[in-house]
Amino acid sequence: MNPDLKKSFRPFQRNGVRGALYCDGVSLETLARKYGTPLYVYSAKQITERLELFQRAFAGREHLVCYAVKANSSLAILKLLAERGAGFDIVSLGELARLVVAAPNAIDRVVFSGVGKTESEIVAALVDGILQFNVESESELELLAKCARRLKKKARFALRVNPDVFAETHPYISTGLREHKFGIDIRKAAEIYRAAARSKWLEPHGISVHIGSQIRSAEPFGAAMERVSKLLMQLKREGIALKVVDAGGGLGIDYHGGSEGADPAAKVQEYAAAIEKALADFDGKLLIEPGRFIVAQAGALVTRVLNVKKNGKKTFVIADAAMNDLIRPALYQAYHEIVPVKPRTGRARAVDVVGPVCETGDFFARDRMLKPVEAGDLVALLDAGAYGMAQSSNYNSRFRAAEVLVEGKQHRLIRRREKMKDLLATEII
Ligand code: LLP
Repeated sequence: MNPDLKKSFRPFQRNGVRGALYCDGVSLETLARKYGTPLYVYSAKQITERLELFQRAFAGREHLVCYAVKANSSLAILKLLAERGAGFDIVSLGELARLVVAAPNAIDRVVFSGVGKTESEIVAALVDGILQFNVESESELELLAKCARRLKKKARFALRVNPDVFAETHPYISTGLREHKFGIDIRKAAEIYRAAARSKWLEPHGISVHIGSQIRSAEPFGAAMERVSKLLMQLKREGIALKVVDAGGGLGIDYHGGSEGADPAAKVQEYAAAIEKALADFDGKLLIEPGRFIVAQAGALVTRVLNVKKNGKKTFVIADAAMNDLIRPALYQAYHEIVPVKPRTGRARAVDVVGPVCETGDFFARDRMLKPVEAGDLVALLDAGAYGMAQSSNYNSRFRAAEVLVEGKQHRLIRRREKMKDLLATEII
């Protein structure tokens, strides 16, 4: 068995004589029986612990951890984080609306990122009084000024600069190179700040970067911040003193169950040290936008085995969850550990774990060593709290899964399973 399941910072651990899998104080079997499958299960304890790791690591300066809502936008999770002092990074009107419902008192802790903001999104965010717009182009800045003038409300903005730093990650989630669609060329930024400083409706408030996601080494974060720091000092000499640096998100987690020996607390320390070293000359406020690191390891997708089928030499474990519930393996060849909820005796063998969707790409794992499982058994896909439910869909007209939040020994439904009427609600014949 994966030794990492025993580590204290992981909420999914084996318990009792037969070693059944628990989320904190609650057995996954109990949850599956009560709420059905596929089921997303999250540990509230882990989510708050991860937020606190960042808050502690940056305690030496004024800071705000702006959780990236896109990683998991469930209202109960947003509320939990807001209550513990988090700010938020949003990318759409929908994400703003979620916060208005779940955390109305935290709207002044919101930054608005995203490569294509519409006029109505900008207006709504100005009216609601968010902290800062992270602007991705000169034309977007013009649009922001126009909206601010109309509302007679000065807009605080940061330019999202593209630092041209390479971050080792999957190409679909790397963003910090000049060839990517994100941000403004860092060499052009000073000129744009200068022009904006003359506008009555724009306040040069900060500078932001985001170099990519699932980045496991601290070094590229430091490199990006060094470039930001140079620009900050240059602007300061010209009389433009920015109050905020937003270092973005992107710190990766260990999807391989701790085999790299990484302690999350140490990872956050390393990350903070790299950023702080590069920003030694900056005495303003630091924002960060972690998403994955806060919620990924807090969540598992629990699914029931429908069938175990042999085709020639291959064995397929067909689960009741599919790519519409968790698309990461199909989309990024992502690895998620898969473990039986109640282990049976017997030797592990190589299987493909797949869903019922009519696509060859509908798989969770290929040639994966798995302890024996039979139809009716439960298995858990670990580290599924980030970009799992948030990227789910109704493909194949499947109902999206339910979500449960575990708080110690308590558990509660935070999203009910969809029904047919939910699927048909928006359609017109
Ligand atoms: N800030 C900005 C501007 C972002 O674009 C993102 C993620 C984040 C923060 C949060 O990054 P994190 O700390 O979660 O790495 N669906 C992909 C990940 C896409 C990330 C997109 N941007 C996946 O499942 O791996």
